[in-house]
Amino acid sequence: MADALIYVLLERLASTTYEYIEGGVKLVLNVKEDVKKFTRTLRVIQAVLEDAEQRQVTDQAVKIWLDELKDVSYQMVDVLDEWNTNILRQQVEKQEREGDPNALVTKKKVRFSSFTRYFRLGKVSRVILRHDIALKIKDLNDKLTEIYEERKKYQFLSKELGIQQPQQPQRPQTASFVDISEIFGRENEKKVLITNLLSDSSAEGKGFLIIPIVGMGGMGKTTLTQLAYNDDRVKTHFDLRKWVCVSDPFDEIKIAKAIIGKNAPNSNELDEVLQCMCTSIQGKRFLLVLDDVWTDDPKKWEQLKVPLIQNGAKGNRILVTTRKHEVADMMRATRNKINLGELNDECCLSIFNHMAFLDRDVHEFGDISKEIVKKCKGLPLAAKTLGSLMQNKTKMGEWKEVLHSKIWDLEKVEQEVFQPLFLSYNDLAPTIKCCLLYCATFPKDYQFERDDLIKLWMAQDYVISKGNKEKETTGYAVFDNLVARSFFQDFEKDFDTGTITSCKMHDIVHDFVQFFTKNECLIIDHGEETTSEPKVFGDKVRHLTLRYVPEGPLPLFISSYDCKNLRTLATFNSRITTIDPNLILQLKCLRTLNLSFNPIEELPKEIGELIHLRHIDLSSNPILKKLPDTICGLYNLSTLRLMYCSGLTKLPENMGNLINLKHLYVKYCGLLESFPKVIGRLTSLQTLDACSWGGDKDEAFQIGDLRNLNLEGSLEIQLGGDATDKSEVEKAQLWDKKLFNLRVNFAGRTNSSSSSSVEILNALRPHPDLESLEILEHNGTTWPNWIQSLHNLRFLTVAWGTLCEFWPLGKLECLERLAIFGIEGMKKVGVEFLRLEHQTSFRIRLFPKLKRLHFYHMSNWEEWEGVEEWTKEDSEITIMPCLSELRIGDCELLKALPDFIFKTPLRTLDITKCRRLAEHYEEGSGERAKISAKIPNIRISSG
Ligand SMILES: *[C@@H]1O[C@H](CO)[C@@H](O)[C@H](O)[C@H]1NC(C)=O
Ligand SMILES: *[C@@H]1O[C@H](CO)[C@@H](O)[C@H](O)[C@H]1NC(C)=O
Ligand SMILES: *[C@@H]1O[C@H](CO)[C@@H](O)[C@H](O)[C@H]1NC(C)=O
Ligand SMILES: *[C@@H]1O[C@H](CO)[C@@H](O)[C@H](O)[C@H]1NC(C)=O
Ligand SMILES: *[C@@H]1O[C@H](CO)[C@@H](O)[C@H](O)[C@H]1NC(C)=O
Repeated sequence: MADALIYVLLERLASTTYEYIEGGVKLVLNVKEDVKKFTRTLRVIQAVLEDAEQRQVTDQAVKIWLDELKDVSYQMVDVLDEWNTNILRQQVEKQEREGDPNALVTKKKVRFSSFTRYFRLGKVSRVILRHDIALKIKDLNDKLTEIYEERKKYQFLSKELGIQQPQQPQRPQTASFVDISEIFGRENEKKVLITNLLSDSSAEGKGFLIIPIVGMGGMGKTTLTQLAYNDDRVKTHFDLRKWVCVSDPFDEIKIAKAIIGKNAPNSNELDEVLQCMCTSIQGKRFLLVLDDVWTDDPKKWEQLKVPLIQNGAKGNRILVTTRKHEVADMMRATRNKINLGELNDECCLSIFNHMAFLDRDVHEFGDISKEIVKKCKGLPLAAKTLGSLMQNKTKMGEWKEVLHSKIWDLEKVEQEVFQPLFLSYNDLAPTIKCCLLYCATFPKDYQFERDDLIKLWMAQDYVISKGNKEKETTGYAVFDNLVARSFFQDFEKDFDTGTITSCKMHDIVHDFVQFFTKNECLIIDHGEETTSEPKVFGDKVRHLTLRYVPEGPLPLFISSYDCKNLRTLATFNSRITTIDPNLILQLKCLRTLNLSFNPIEELPKEIGELIHLRHIDLSSNPILKKLPDTICGLYNLSTLRLMYCSGLTKLPENMGNLINLKHLYVKYCGLLESFPKVIGRLTSLQTLDACSWGGDKDEAFQIGDLRNLNLEGSLEIQLGGDATDKSEVEKAQLWDKKLFNLRVNFAGRTNSSSSSSVEILNALRPHPDLESLEILEHNGTTWPNWIQSLHNLRFLTVAWGTLCEFWPLGKLECLERLAIFGIEGMKKVGVEFLRLEHQTSFRIRLFPKLKRLHFYHMSNWEEWEGVEEWTKEDSEITIMPCLSELRIGDCELLKALPDFIFKTPLRTLDITKCRRLAEHYEEGSGERAKISAKIPNIRISSG
């Protein structure tokens, strides 16, 4: 892990600013020079890290050396942070002094008294502080120099000096013979695969087919491929079969030579070798297996692919095994992809028994076997390894020992099961390694929310963005990367966009990351702190997760160890009620604090001393009433989560000082009636998940105060009460905000404001790039006047209101999903829905991209008009040419569907609780027969 950490540190060092640190410090010491020296030394050390990382496994002295190096690096990160915070503080103070022109004028003067100590340092103390930082840097420099000198003892191989490339970890070479012990449980996949290999090629373009088999390490990709390769039908079907173990790097010459076989030329000229390869496959029907492909570089692949396509006969097949979905994408073969997921426990048990007992009595330790197999979590390799581990164990005690041990304590598992994972891990970029390993701070089976996880990575500074790219964008890329390499699974996707919103981690992968972070990430269950050996909780722990802490104070045992280095403190399933201020004061390096779900009434004001904090989660705490004002001195705080704090009555008044706050979550805080007006000054704010406009206009946040915020993502505007009028709403200037989703909810609006709801809606005109819009409880009959300008709108929901004229939607050229709920007043959907009235052209496409159309809860809706009766004969109207799903529910009176629906490529028709429709399309009727012939999936019911 040191390589990743140091990579991140070097990036930060390179972007350090010095401008504000001038003055006092310069007189005392030369900080800039010291930092440069530090950087130089670190770079030299970086060159030997790869070798050191590998040797630490066997060499204790190297491990200690590496630990020291990590220590110094972590400390340097902290010093840099302190420095940055110092700079920030000066900026805030300057702003206060000069009066920020953008700042909202508040009548009350911002009060500092309660936290003067935290950021109103006099000139003298400021110099002392900088002096302090300078000394720390000097000190760290000395330490690093020592480490640098010491490295000579170990004679590491250096990457840069080019003495010798450090050894790549061994990738197992596969061969095409089958290990009979592994054939359990993939019958279906095998059948599909063999069918694809033998199938008539005429349907597939040139009769050339690439079949990728994708899955995480140890899932049995190679085994399945071997089975197919050696199947008798396959053997006779192909003139030529070749098995090439590709691995990394992707070497075209080597692969081409392997295809040619024993007559391969000695030349290393790509052209010549490819020529020769072409001759050898000329006119033959071949099966080529490329086992364990890692590269997703299309250039390398094309060079090989083109001659293969051009020279073989029809019916050629290339089988590719890989752990990376990117490889299948790059080969443009996702359609034929075979995903290998987990095996069920039964199959795992068969493998386990086969390996464990060979010819002996299988039932010897029946139940224990089953329990042990559960540890495999569907990973055939683990079943095989554990099974073979048991071969020579004949005593019940020995079996129980294995059952109760952590999986990575079994040396065999570490070697055999983690080895393939290690290869995947090693293939990651350093910062992505950090991100992956951070997942070890969560318990097994935790459901990771993508966006939260990315924020947590950012809080630890693991996400580095080059150029102008937003860090979030890089964070998404990191996440996608880990997904594509099968480190995550069990995805939940956004209904509309299909992007992954959450996922889990396979247990064995989780074991793997925990194994890798054994000293740095620790999860302690209540009661365990006394039993687990204290040695594991030394000063190397950086991320601590507590579970099952009973009602009472945050346990002091964490302070009986050295917890000044903690960067993450999180709790799960705990009921902490109080926190000792002195304990808080020790957590000086904390970046992330997650105390959600704990019933803590009051947070100690000392939290304001934890200047490195970036991410605070206090959500789901029903008795928290307020936050200490000192929290407003945490200049680098970027995420504050307070959802479901149902007792929270107010936010701190000085929140305007949190100039780095990007995400504020306050949804479901029922008692939070107004926000302080200064929130309008938080120009970094991207996420504000709920807004409230109660209270005094001059002191409380109003809708117009949204103006200066740089909101992104989703925004929900609740137009409750009577606090809104048109001119105030206009001030928000929503059209300037690059939102993805806007939800406007009129629920709870009273009719005493001076503007009608249509006027308000009109004033809420969003940016033309808006992609998703929801309008709820809008009691007006006209649509907002900007709806037609939303040229990028993809998803639209209109629910619970009186909006029943359908004129403006057919021309929204990007609309993919339309959902209409609970418009009780609607009796008829007429042709105006299609917007046909004023057509001038005869070639019209209406709802050109619409895929999903949903209607629910419209108890008065009777008629949905078609177009047959009135279209002119020579007109060409295309309606909903992409429609694939129509769902209608709770529309009792609707009589029939319009004719045009049956001209769309509809695949799913789902009708529930629609009495008359059910009668109309009754099973066995002529109408039913007509639609059944066209639509593959139909469900129609009246109940
Ligand atoms: C704190 O925020 C500032 C301003 O965004 C940033 O430049 C700085 O790097 C942050 N400090 C740390 C320690 O990350
Ligand atoms: C079990 O014992 C036999 C004979 O002593 C040995 O050859 C074999 O390698 C052992 N197997 C394992 C898995 O340790
Ligand atoms: C904080 O911890 C809770 C469990 O106590 C968890 O559900 C939540 O996802 C965590 N929050 C973050 C941001 O990780
Ligand atoms: C909208 O109209 C419905 C019935 O017509 C009524 O019950 C509801 O209170 C109205 N909502 C608002 C916000 O005016
Ligand atoms: C209030 O309701 C009345 C009657 O329904 C309507 O005429 C008037 O326009 C409404 N006022 C506002 C401000 O919406």
